[in-house]
Amino acid sequence: MKRNTYYMDEVITTEKVDVRYFKRLLARIVPYKKLFLLAFLLLACSSLLALLPPFLIRSVVNNVIPMEEGQARTRALVLYVVALGVLGVLTAVLPYFHQRIMGTLGHTIIAEVRREIFLKLQQLPFDYYDNRPAGKISIRVTDYVNELADFFTDYLLTLIVNVLKIVAATVFMLCISPVLTAVIYAAAIPLTVCVYFIKRAVRRLFRHHRAKNSNRNAFIVESIMGEKVIKSNNRSDFNRTVYRDLQEDSARTWMKIVRRNELNAPVSELCWNAGILGIYAVALALIGGGATAMAGTVIAFTLYTSICSEPLLQFTAILQQLSQVSANLERIYETVDAPVTIHDPEHAVVLSDVRGQVDFNDVTFGYEPGVNVLEHFDLHVSPGEKIALVGPTGAGKTTVISLLTRFYDVNEGSVMVDGHDVRSVTLHSLRKEIGVLMQEPFIFKGSILDNIRYGTPEATDEECIAAAKTICCDRVAARFPDGYHAVLGERGEGLSAGEKQLLSFARIVLKNPRIVILDEATSAIDSETELLIQAALDRILAGKTSFIVAHRLSTIRKADRILFIADKGIAEAGSHEELMRRKGRYYALNQRK
Ligand SMILES: Nc1ncnc2c1ncn2[C@@H]1O[C@H](COP(=O)(O)OP(=O)(O)OP(=O)(O)O)[C@@H](O)[C@H]1O
Ligand SMILES: [Mg+2]
Repeated sequence: MKRNTYYMDEVITTEKVDVRYFKRLLARIVPYKKLFLLAFLLLACSSLLALLPPFLIRSVVNNVIPMEEGQARTRALVLYVVALGVLGVLTAVLPYFHQRIMGTLGHTIIAEVRREIFLKLQQLPFDYYDNRPAGKISIRVTDYVNELADFFTDYLLTLIVNVLKIVAATVFMLCISPVLTAVIYAAAIPLTVCVYFIKRAVRRLFRHHRAKNSNRNAFIVESIMGEKVIKSNNRSDFNRTVYRDLQEDSARTWMKIVRRNELNAPVSELCWNAGILGIYAVALALIGGGATAMAGTVIAFTLYTSICSEPLLQFTAILQQLSQVSANLERIYETVDAPVTIHDPEHAVVLSDVRGQVDFNDVTFGYEPGVNVLEHFDLHVSPGEKIALVGPTGAGKTTVISLLTRFYDVNEGSVMVDGHDVRSVTLHSLRKEIGVLMQEPFIFKGSILDNIRYGTPEATDEECIAAAKTICCDRVAARFPDGYHAVLGERGEGLSAGEKQLLSFARIVLKNPRIVILDEATSAIDSETELLIQAALDRILAGKTSFIVAHRLSTIRKADRILFIADKGIAEAGSHEELMRRKGRYYALNQRK
C-alpha cells in the first residue's frame, strides 16, 4: 500500500485467509486450555440440562397424567416438579461461572494481541508509517482489538455449545420419533443454504465497512493533529463536509450490512415455522392412522424445535459477528505480519568505543521506487570532523542523515561507521553512538526533566539540569513555577518553537554521543541565544564527528568542511573560505543572505 490517505480505501490483499487468522487467534487459548475446558464444560452442562425438561414434560403428559388419581400419581408429579425446579436453577446459575471465566480469558488474550501489535509498531520502519495515515494504524490497536473481546466472551463458546445443543436435541428427537425429526430437518436445509449466502455477502461488506471506518478515523486523527492549521485556514466548514461524506460512506456500507443481516431472522423463522407446521401435519396423519400417545410427543417436539431454533438463530448472528471479527483480524495481522525491513542482522556487531569515522560509499537512495534523492553519493568523514550540510530545500540533507542513523536503508552502496556497515551493527548500539536533533523536535507529555532524560533514562536530575544549563535551556524551566518539574503538554504544547529546540538540544548534550547530528537545530532560536549556544556547542562538539544542517551562516562557517547538497549529490565541498573563493553556488547562497 503506497501513500494511503483518508480518501483512499486501504486495500488488504488477503483472500480467503480468515481461517488461518482464526487459527492463529485460537492458538492463544492453548496456554489457558484448562480454564477454557472448564468454561466449556460448565456451558455444555447448562445447555444439555436445558434439553431435559421437554423429555420430562413428555413423560408427565404421556405417563403420569393418564395414571389413576392417588398417592402414586401425586408423588410422581411432585418428583417431576422438583426435578424441573432443580434443572431450572442449574441452567440459570451455571452460565454465570462460564461467562466469568471467558470474560477474564478474553480480556487476557486481547491484551496479548494488543501488546503484540503495539510492539510490532515500535519495530516497523519509517516507510511503513510514511505510507499509512496515523488514524488507520491507531484504529487497529484500539477498536479492532477491542472487538475481538466479544469473540472470546460471547461467540466462541456459544458457537461450540450451540452445535452440541443441536446434535443432542437431534438425538433426543430421534429417540422420540425419527419421522418427525426428518420433517424438522427438511425445514433446516433451505435455512442453511440461505444463511450461507447471506453470510458470504456480509463478509465482503464488512471488509468494505472496515475500510470506510479507517478512512473516517484517519481524517479525525489528521484533523486533531492539524487543528491550528485548519482554524487558521478557515477549513472548519470544508472539513465538516469532508467528515459528513466520510461518515455517510461508512453509514451506507453499515446499512447494507444491516439490510442483509436482517434477512436472517425472517428466513430462519419462516423455515422453522414451516417445520413446526409439518410436524403437526405429520402428527395428525399419524393419529389418523391410529398412532397412540401422540400428544406428549408433539408437545416435546414443539419444545425441542424451539430449543433448536434459538441456537440456530444465534448461529446466524454469530456467523455475522465472525465476519466482523475476520475483517478486523485481516487488518490486525496485516500490521503484525508487516516485514520489519530494518532490523539487527544475524551476528550483528555491537558498536563500541566509536571513533567517529563515517563513510558513504557510492550511495544511491530514493523513498519511492524510481525516484532517487541521492545518486552515487560519496562522502568520507574523519573522526572529529565537523561537516556542514547546506543546499536548497528538498535537496536531500535530512535524507543523508537518515541513512546514517539507518532510519532508511540505502538502495545501493553502503554507509559505514568506523569501517562497519550500518546494516551489520545492532541498531541499539548505532543509535546510542549517534545523537540526532531532528528538524522537527518532538516533546512528549511529561515534565521538562523527563523530556531531557528521554534518551538517557538512567541520568540523575542533577545531570539533566547540568546538561540543560550548558545550552541555555534553564531559562525554559525558569518560566514555570515548578521549574524542571513542570509538566509539558502533548507535542510540547505550551512551549515556543525555540524552547522546544533548546529542550531537545539538552537531550543530546545529556546523551553525549560520539557522532552528533544537528538538523536545523537552532533555526527557531534567536541569534543572541544562538551565539551563547555556539560557545557551548564548540565545547560539546570538540573531538566529535558532527553533521550540522543549517541555513544560518554563523552556524556553518566554522565547519571543517561544508557540503553543498544539490542535484542528488554533493555539488560543492570545501571550507567556507575555499567555497567563497570559488564563487559557485555556496557563494551565491551567501550573497543572497
Ligand atoms: N518520507 C519520505 N517519503 C518520500 N519522499 C520523501 C520523504 N522524505 C523526504 N522526501 C523527499 O526527498 C527529498 C529530499 O528530502 P529531504 O528531507 O532530505 O530534504 P532536505 O534537504 O532536508 O530539505 P529541507 O532543507 O527542506 O529540510 C525531497 O524531495 C522530499 O520530498
Ligand atoms: Mg531537512
